[in-house]
Amino acid sequence: MKGIVFTEFLDLVESKFGIETVEQIISESELESNGVYTAVGTYKFTEMASLLTNLSNLTNISPNDLLKVYGLHFFDVLVKNYGSILNMYKTPLELLESIDAHIHVAVRKLYPDAELPYFEVNKDADSKLTMIYHSSRAMYAFAHGLMEKTFEHYNEKATIKYQLLKDDGTTVKFEIIKE
Ligand code: HEM
Repeated sequence: MKGIVFTEFLDLVESKFGIETVEQIISESELESNGVYTAVGTYKFTEMASLLTNLSNLTNISPNDLLKVYGLHFFDVLVKNYGSILNMYKTPLELLESIDAHIHVAVRKLYPDAELPYFEVNKDADSKLTMIYHSSRAMYAFAHGLMEKTFEHYNEKATIKYQLLKDDGTTVKFEIIKE
């Protein structure tokens, strides 16, 4: 997992819960990196899973609720760091439809070791998209947050429903209907 996912996560934890919480979850998680991350480095996904579990235990907020909030925040990180990619899309549905075929392909060129999800995309109608999320990391709540913020970014509204096709959250079907 790329370092930017860790650095932004810890920044968000600090702004919401304070530096003591950041220090506590780092010390409770057994981290090979010792909690020292650089944005361009690559670290094990298990470190993120462990930080998230410890934050969830400390705050009594479920890991998925935390990941959703992180997804909402991460969209702003994408706007700041990858605006040139995002600006290529004129509508939120066009952007979401392009994640797998274009956006994450470009990301993989930048970072060959990126661990990205795979999306099966189906444009059911002008205003309806079905996306099936596949990833061993089961970060579908993060995807949900990113999808919601995509619509906000374009000042549009949508109803986004999801259904777990596998109980462990590694395969999740999203139905996105633009209002
Ligand atoms: C992960 C880039 C848009 C869904 C990532 C990662 C990067 C990235 C760098 C981390 C990879 C790693 O840690 O190794 C981008 C860029 C985007 C974009 C540059 C737009 C310009 C989106 C959108 C979604 C999305 C709109 C919404 C569904 C995800 C998910 C992950 C991820 C769910 C977590 C990894 C996983 O679930 O396996 N993306 N992304 N991305 N991205 Fe994107």
